[in-house]
Amino acid sequence: MTEPLVRPMRLSDLPTVMETTRRSLPLAWGEAVWREELASPFGLYLVLEEDGAVSGYIGLKLISDEAHVVTIAVRPERRRRGVARALLEAALADPASVGARRVYLEVRPSNAGARALYGSLGFVETGLRPAYYGDEDALLMTLDLRTAPHRNRPRR
Ligand SMILES: CC(C)(COP(=O)(O)OP(=O)(O)OC[C@H]1O[C@@H](n2cnc3c(N)ncnc32)[C@H](O)[C@@H]1OP(=O)(O)O)[C@@H](O)C(=O)NCCC(=O)NCCS
Repeated sequence: MTEPLVRPMRLSDLPTVMETTRRSLPLAWGEAVWREELASPFGLYLVLEEDGAVSGYIGLKLISDEAHVVTIAVRPERRRRGVARALLEAALADPASVGARRVYLEVRPSNAGARALYGSLGFVETGLRPAYYGDEDALLMTLDLRTAPHRNRPRR
C-alpha cells in the first residue's frame, strides 16, 4: 500500500472518473463536458489515487473570490475512509484556490451523507434553490474562509 496521493485530474483518468460518476450521481456529464471542464482556466479538478487507482475526484470552479464545488464523488467501495474530506481539503489548500474567500455548493436535502461531510468541514446552510435538480430542491451551503479556520490553510 502506498500513501494516498491527491493530484490534478488527467484526460487518462476520465474512464474511471466517468464510471465513478455513473455509480454515484443521478446526472453524469458526457466526455465532451469533462474535456471542456479540464481545459477551463477556471476549473480545478483533482483525483485521489491509492495504489495506482483513482478512488474519487472533486471539481471546483474558481471565479473572482468565490470557489464553487461543482462535483465530488467517491467510488462506493472506497467510501467512509476520508477520501472526500481529503479531496475537499486539498482543493482548498491548492494554490489555485488562494484568492477564494467563500466556498459554496449545492446539495440535495435528501443527501444526508454529503450534508454531514460538508457540515463537518464548516459549511453552513445559507439558502435554497427551488427545483434546482428538477426532481428536488437544492440546499445552498457556504464556507466562509475568512471566518472558518481550515486545516492546511492559513487564515485570511
Ligand atoms: C458524499 C461522498 C462524496 C462522501 O465521500 P466519502 O469519501 O465517503 O466521505 P469521507 O469518508 O471523507 O467522510 C467524511 C465525513 O463526512 C461524513 N459522512 C460522509 N459520508 C457519510 C454518510 N454516508 N453518512 C453520514 N455521514 C457521512 C462523516 O462525518 C464522515 O466522517 P466519519 O466517517 O469519520 O464519520 C460519497 O458518499 C459519494 O460519492 N456520494 C455520492 C456522490 C455525492 O453524493 N456527491 C455529493 C453531491 S453534493
